[in-house]
Amino acid sequence: MMSEYLVFDTNDEIWSYMGKRWEEISAKAIAEKRYFSAALSGGKTPAGFYQYLSGRHDLQWEKSHLFLVDERFVPWESPESNYRMLHENLLGRIQIPSENIHPIPTGQSSPDISAKKYEEEMRRFFKLDENSIPNFDLILLGIGEDGHTASLFPGTDALKETKRLVIPVRPGEPLMDRISLTLPVINNAWNVIFLVSGQRKRAVMRKIREGHDQTLPASMVSPERGLLLFLMDREAAG
Ligand code: 6PG
Repeated sequence: MMSEYLVFDTNDEIWSYMGKRWEEISAKAIAEKRYFSAALSGGKTPAGFYQYLSGRHDLQWEKSHLFLVDERFVPWESPESNYRMLHENLLGRIQIPSENIHPIPTGQSSPDISAKKYEEEMRRFFKLDENSIPNFDLILLGIGEDGHTASLFPGTDALKETKRLVIPVRPGEPLMDRISLTLPVINNAWNVIFLVSGQRKRAVMRKIREGHDQTLPASMVSPERGLLLFLMDREAAG
């Protein structure tokens, strides 16, 4: 695994650098297998990047398939919904076929059923058998101050999952049911890129870079064959 940390002066510089990587990764994937697959995170940090991306009409959206990394178990219309955020900032502003959009189905009777349905959809899309794990071309992640990433929180059983692709989780603070991709899926991607900005992330970024605390979920991200990249602003980098 190759990992790289890059620091930028402004968020706009992060977005345009990330836009270049997106362009390269998607063009390569489309040339090789005729489609590009990405899993996108919620949270505040990437919203600006999604807005930037919505202006990139040159990207091959009709061949791009977008999944979510995690979701709150709320209706898509809810202000807490990651899908809603993604729709407002990106999906509603670009020409992308609706069958290329793969939101987490939260309108189910339980988070477990939602997770199972999403896993089925992923197996269908990537044509996987029972034991295979998808290879996303790109997974975009954020980091919480406690070191969580996706909806994988420190000290939870979710971190021990080895078989399921998608699981229900119920971390504390704020106590809310969520659904998340698992570490085996994240670590099987070709490119994993973290977007990290703001001073509040400085302490956790230092821990991750020092590498002493392997119990931090973000430190467990280590794509076996892929690239691991952290894009940070100066405030987060310190
Ligand atoms: C979510 C995310 C989560 C997020 C981090 C960082 O649904 O909340 O996917 O893992 O990336 O909590 O969030 P901020 O970008 O808002 O700091």
